[in-house]
Formats: sequence, structure tokens, C-alpha cells
Amino acid sequence: MKVLGIETSCDETAVAVVEDGRVLSNVIATQVDLHRRFGGVVPEVASRAHVEALNPLLDEALERAGARFRDLDGVAVTVGPGLVGALLVGIAAAKALAFGLGVPLVGVNHLEGHIWANFLEHGAAEPPYVCLVVSGGHTMLVHMTDEHSYRILGQTVDDAAGEAFDKIARFIGLGFPGGPALDAAARDGDPNAIAFPRSMEGSGDYAFSLSGLKTAVLRWVKAERAAGRDIDVGDLAASFQEAIVDVQVSKTLRAAGEMGVGTVLLGGGVVANSRLRERMTSAGEEAGVRVLFPSPALCTDNGAMIAAAGASRLRRGETTPLGVAADPALELS
Ligand code: KG4
Ligand code: ZN
Repeated sequence: MKVLGIETSCDETAVAVVEDGRVLSNVIATQVDLHRRFGGVVPEVASRAHVEALNPLLDEALERAGARFRDLDGVAVTVGPGLVGALLVGIAAAKALAFGLGVPLVGVNHLEGHIWANFLEHGAAEPPYVCLVVSGGHTMLVHMTDEHSYRILGQTVDDAAGEAFDKIARFIGLGFPGGPALDAAARDGDPNAIAFPRSMEGSGDYAFSLSGLKTAVLRWVKAERAAGRDIDVGDLAASFQEAIVDVQVSKTLRAAGEMGVGTVLLGGGVVANSRLRERMTSAGEEAGVRVLFPSPALCTDNGAMIAAAGASRLRRGETTPLGVAADPALELS
């Protein structure tokens, strides 16, 4: 079954063709350069850029897959959560294609897509899992009890982890998006150089809080500047990153233990972070828990993860009506 996946929830226009769990093509038009001068994603700019990028990208995805439109067996599209105007562009295109080709449409939750990116590389889904989803908009622990059933164990009460990376990077002049820049800077730094708070690490639940850490970093930088001291960006990046990673590692493994689950899945753009991958792997080995995550290109937003989740839903006979609306606050359930 060849399924087209369309993802336009934020600032990447992404299209892929997936056939029975195999990625035939996965193309992305990033808008990073457009949003850089604003220091973050501007919703109207994103919507317009999706409109311009989508048609050529659809052609490219099919060409790279060696397929024609009429070879498609279904169309999967992100229906939420995300920026409403951005989502609408992908949804309108998906509806038109499904209607024109006479194939089923399936709407996919973006967060489910991030989880399903794992099954493109690690074999078929065999729940239960504990999943850590960390992106620019979300930081949550999920108990996946069935192929498409999810229970949110806890989530951030304020900022998402990716948002914290982006804000801190912007503040210290590392540019946008901040995650990859901080990850790179941290490689030359000492993660124990500055003792930043591990917010909610001992809270006993699965909630996260990132805003206290962000404030602590901003205060520390201002104090250093006021004292006329040079800031070691490597030490700062490594210490900030370690504070985030520490809490995520301990809460994720505690959730796996308490849920009695042997495999943890990581998903979302922040999972591209090299320190999070390294620490999760070693903590998993120590705890006897299997930790799986996608390769970096499948961690950040892409169409293949949407096609993967959508194809599984289609195989189960699930389809989405052509009247489906974008849901910017769609919950994972
Ligand atoms: O999943 P994603 O591509 O888009 C959303 O659904 O939000 O995640 C984007 C986020 C951004 O905040 C970006 O800074 C962060 O993922 N990110 C990283 C890394 N690569 C991307 N954060 C930390 N380390 C990275 N290497
Ligand atoms: Zn995402």
C-alpha cells in the first residue's frame, strides 16, 4: 500500500511516500531562512510559504518515489496540533488529492506521527510503550497501550523543551532554530560547569516545567554580563542542556518502571539532540529498558512519519471524512 504523507503544521513543508513501512521518498522544504530574521516562526509567513512550496514538493516526492499520483492508495495529512493557517494548506491539498484520485483520506495527529517515526526504522509497532514526545510545542510522557491508543501521563505546565532551547539560543545570539545550535555549542562545554535547576525532577508525577530553568539561565547570563565576565557559551549550553536531559531521562525511565513497560520510544525534534540520545541510551542500558529513537532526520517534522501513522490507520479500515477541519489544539488520545 503506497501512502502519501503531507505535513504542514509549523514551518516545514514536508511530503513523503511510504509503502508498507518503507520510505520511498521524504522531501522537505524548510522555511528556517524566512523566519530567522524574526527569531521565531511567524504564522502568516508560514502559511504563505506552505502554499508556494507544496505543489512542487508533491511532484518531487512522487518523482523520487518512482510513483505516479494514480499509484497512491491513500493520502495521510496532519490535522493538528499546529498553526491553523499552516495546517489548512496541507489539509486542503490532501482533500483535493484524495477526492480527485478516489482514494481514502486519513487525518493524523502530529504527535502520533512523531511516535510512529520509530516504526519506520525499528520494525512494526508492538505496544505497550512509554513514549517521550519533545518538540518545539510539546513535552509529554505518553503510555501507548495499543497501536493507536495513547494516555498522556504528564506534560509541561509551561514551555516546551524545544521552545526553551530556541529562546535561550536567541538570547545568547546563537540564532534560530536554537536546538541544533545549542547542541553543537554544548559539545565543547562542561555539563557540570553551572548548576541550573532540575525543575520538577522530584515532583513524583510526570509533569515538566521549563520556564524556571529558562529564567535561571537568563538571570545567570545577565549577572555574568553585569560583572563584566566573558560567557563560555560551551559551558552554558552544556549545563542548560544537561538540566533538561536529566529530568527527561529520570522521568521517562521512572514511567517505564511504573507502567511495567520494557521499551521506551522517543519522538519529536528535540530527540535529534545528541546528549539526550546518548544519556537515554546509557540510562536505558543500566535500567534494562530498551530505548528507541528515530534517526535525526525523522525526529524533526517530516511527511514520512505522517504517512506511517496514516497507513496503519488505513490498514485498520479507518478513514477521515473529506469535511475534516484543522484542529490547532488537537489532543493525543
Ligand atoms: O518536532 P519539531 O521539528 O517541530 C515541532 O513539532 O515543534 O521540533 C522542533 C524543535 C525546535 O524547537 C528545535 O530547536 C528543536 O526541535 N531541535 C533540537 C535539536 N534539533 C531540533 N533541540 C535540541 N537539540 C537538537 N539537536
Ligand atoms: Zn513536530
